[in-house]
Amino acid sequence: MTTPDNQDILIHTEAAVTTITINRIDKKNSFTAVMYSALADALDNASRDAAVHVLVIQGHETIFSAGNDIRDFLDVPPDHADAPVFHFMRAISTFPKPIIASVCGPAVGIGTTMLMHCDLIYAGDNAAFSMPFVNLGICPEAGSSLLVPQLMGHQRAAEALLLGEPFMAETALELGLINRIVPPSEANVLAQRQAQKLAAKPLTSLIETKRLMKKGNAALVAERIEEEGASFGRMLSAPAAREAFSAFMEKRKPDFSKV
Ligand code: COA
Repeated sequence: MTTPDNQDILIHTEAAVTTITINRIDKKNSFTAVMYSALADALDNASRDAAVHVLVIQGHETIFSAGNDIRDFLDVPPDHADAPVFHFMRAISTFPKPIIASVCGPAVGIGTTMLMHCDLIYAGDNAAFSMPFVNLGICPEAGSSLLVPQLMGHQRAAEALLLGEPFMAETALELGLINRIVPPSEANVLAQRQAQKLAAKPLTSLIETKRLMKKGNAALVAERIEEEGASFGRMLSAPAAREAFSAFMEKRKPDFSKV
């Protein structure tokens, strides 16, 4: 498996583990449509390749991801079901083999919602999770409107999704979102160590166990991703999101009083 020409997503396969590194540090690892396509392709390839048993997704010691690239939201809005971001969401939410995430620094928007589809999550003590969709005039995605309340209960999900308040690694551990907190320099190493343990186990057992664990929710998640996607696409071009995106670009606070 090779890394695509675009170096913003690095893909490396070794000893039955495919590691995806988000590598757009100057833009805080925010995702463009091109990056979602590369991610979706990497997931599809790893899913099909019998030599791959485990997937690891990691960022940098200082940043996991600032979520969707806001300029890209304006240039190539994901306002149709075939948009690369939806390919990525479908690929990660149905990925049959174990996924390990290593998260340090901010994990914003899809940087957090993608974690709902990961199986083991190791976080640096600097990890900060946030889903500020409402603050951007849009709505949750990647099935998070279903999975976040299931994980943490309605009221705590409301703080995360309605207020869009960030929460740190210790809260994430208490909520059951992550498995362990380590110093940022150790997160990727731990993820690889755990991946090697999984890679040594029989793949058919891993796949069947994960399938059974997720069976009760699978259809609901697929349906929710679709429904959220339709709303999200509509809301992207509405005045609230336009104001939020302009404000981000102009480095000012948004003014929602007129929308
Ligand atoms: N889309 C596009 N560019 C982004 C971005 C995003 N989501 N997040 C950060 N960047 C860019 C900044 O515009 C800046 O670019 P510049 O150097 O050309 O001005 C660069 O990345 C560094 O970002 P900065 O905000 O200065 O870094 P920080 O360390 O102070 O803060 C974050 C990091 C992640 C907390 C902050 O960048 C942030 O909140 N980003 C927006 C997150 C967001 O709303 N995402 C959408 C979720 S749906």
